[in-house]
Amino acid sequence: MKHLKGLVIGIILTTLQINAGAQTGGWTEVAPGVWRIVAGSPDKPDLFSVAGIRPKLEALNKLGDVQFPLQPEKISIKVVNGQSYLRFPLEREEEIFGFGLNFKTVFRRGSIMQLHVDHYGGRDNGRTHAPVPFYVSDMGYGVFINSSRYLTVYAGTGVRKDSPDAPQEKDRNTDKDWPAQPYSDAVECLVPAGGVEIYIFGGPTAMDAVRRFILYSGGGPLPPRWGLGFTQRVPTLYTSDEVIDEASEFKRRGFPLDFIGLEPGWQSRSYPCTLEWDTTRFPDPPSFIATMNEMGIRLNLWTNPYISSHSSLYSDILPFTGSHTVWGGVVPDLTIPEAAQLFSDHLSENQIKLGISGYKIDECDGYDNWLWPDVAIFPSGYSAEQLRQTYGLLLQRITSELYHGNNTRTWGLVRASNGGGSSFPYVIYNDYYSHEDFITAIINSGYSGVLWTPEVRSSKTGEEWLRRFQTVCFSPMAMINAWASGTKPWSFPEVEKDIRRYAILRMELLPYLYSEFARYHYEGTPPFRGMNLEPGFDFLTKRKLSDSQRPADQYSEAILKEIKDQYMTGDNLLVAPMFTGQSSRKVVLPPGKWYDFYTGEFAGEGEVITVNPGLSSIPVYVRDGGIVPMMKPLFHAPGAGVKYDLEIRHYGNSEGNYLLYDDDGETFDYEKGIYSWREIRVTRNKRGNLEGHISKAEKGKPDNIGTVTWKYMTVNKVNSIK
Ligand code: GAL
Repeated sequence: MKHLKGLVIGIILTTLQINAGAQTGGWTEVAPGVWRIVAGSPDKPDLFSVAGIRPKLEALNKLGDVQFPLQPEKISIKVVNGQSYLRFPLEREEEIFGFGLNFKTVFRRGSIMQLHVDHYGGRDNGRTHAPVPFYVSDMGYGVFINSSRYLTVYAGTGVRKDSPDAPQEKDRNTDKDWPAQPYSDAVECLVPAGGVEIYIFGGPTAMDAVRRFILYSGGGPLPPRWGLGFTQRVPTLYTSDEVIDEASEFKRRGFPLDFIGLEPGWQSRSYPCTLEWDTTRFPDPPSFIATMNEMGIRLNLWTNPYISSHSSLYSDILPFTGSHTVWGGVVPDLTIPEAAQLFSDHLSENQIKLGISGYKIDECDGYDNWLWPDVAIFPSGYSAEQLRQTYGLLLQRITSELYHGNNTRTWGLVRASNGGGSSFPYVIYNDYYSHEDFITAIINSGYSGVLWTPEVRSSKTGEEWLRRFQTVCFSPMAMINAWASGTKPWSFPEVEKDIRRYAILRMELLPYLYSEFARYHYEGTPPFRGMNLEPGFDFLTKRKLSDSQRPADQYSEAILKEIKDQYMTGDNLLVAPMFTGQSSRKVVLPPGKWYDFYTGEFAGEGEVITVNPGLSSIPVYVRDGGIVPMMKPLFHAPGAGVKYDLEIRHYGNSEGNYLLYDDDGETFDYEKGIYSWREIRVTRNKRGNLEGHISKAEKGKPDNIGTVTWKYMTVNKVNSIK
């Protein structure tokens, strides 16, 4: 039971109450800017207790105190006949975001959803991989419903008789302004349980509310540095020799590679799984893993959690499994500590102890006709619905705790998550494969405290291949998933050079990406996020514009509309992907000056620009004074203690600063304070020229930085210091 102590569901909840503070209309402040209320008798398990969240109270304290963001009397929570009815107010101009990983739309006002873990099926109806019951308002607050039930949400659609802001009745016969959807002033939610726990997160901005939600959930994961390098998933029936050959081919062709993913065929049987090596394809796993490690490459293993009768785990776990099978395999009830322990020991003995760096946890989301039905019975007594809503969380938690127990970081893939899962080192993916919708999913991931990769599998043309590849390089996992297609980065010779250039750019960006992930971990700021979390796209800006009778310029119009095809990568980079067939696109640049990432040239300022970047380039912009620390490209991310040289880029004419994060990149020693933030500053000297400084590493703290070169991209001066 060593690693799974915390998995006894419900225990962690007591820690959530320690900070109980002031009461506002029945709401208790449990951390600065975070309020909780319990109505009726909520059923167990809830999402936060399944995830075993450990709120980052110190970071929440730093965000400071704010007022309760809503008028408590406008919130209604009623428990009637074993169901909970919730209502939260909406103002006229307010927009809301979130409710999980959706793919088509960003604005949530006006939608009706049933939040239900599932493989995304092409509609934003609540059925998705991470239907997180959290929404955030551009008026600067967030609401989280801590329930593992299927929740029905009416986000600004229902109209009540007693609404203080009820729409006027109109006659459709004669009134051409008759609205099909009358105005609604509330978000309403039905929880099919006789009680519920709810949290409200204060602002003042939407970004602050998101940060508080993520910090309360334990902060974002800090990936190992290698997790941000490039990864290739190989065809399902590859042998160990073929994997080694493929890794050599990457090196020969000059493509960076940090980890390889083995798909179902590494196992003796799959769907259902043995979770044991196939000895014909992998005759000697320890020496295979050792060879790969010598080549600087880690291995990630595909799994699903349905256990085959041919697995040595089968008979032990059988008593702890549900009434139904999935592909003929038994379904462990992972809410039972013994079942979790058996599962965990099996992975540990057969793979993790041999040096496997992580997992891809497949098929824990849906579809309904594959997974257990809602009539299944589980030995814990929890309902099939609750297991469905939390299975991805349970699997992430079990595997994360295993790696944590070994003081080794992991970085993996998962197809289901939920509220409370923000701190798990997993990135969500799916089989849906729409490039445009994959970008919208990146934006929505930022509102829900999850990570998403727009993975690349195959393409019809070199153009599509390159366009998809360019965006995956600006995502939490730079990956080709060739399990079925066998594609390689060089599969389209006409764009091979450009593909290599972006794979290398990904490696160059590692210091920046790693620091942005550190901000996710320590401060709760999502590293990939939509424009509506940025200043200039929020409620106040909109209201200001409408107060002054909105100017008829494109920017003022653009910020009222959904922006679902461009996003931020960290604080300084705005990424505007190009899709197959496009030769130009519009980009909405926030207020302040913005510069072209590649050339440093001025691009625009609080306006909508049209760009024609050509096939070989994905438009990326940097804010004025923006600093982007980059490194000399390497084939593999630098390991613990390996020094890397920095090229620090500065954009625009303004002075700027940046905090660069550094630690060993592989272990959890940072939890003991063994990390450093290096302050980078670019200031104007007496002669009026820009000059860069980087602070020295604190004594006794990690220092992996070698030589530093400064590149002033806009003023075009190259200076060498140190
Ligand atoms: C799918 C998964 C793919 C691949 C495949 C292997 O469910 O989404 O990425 O792993 O299984 O059978």
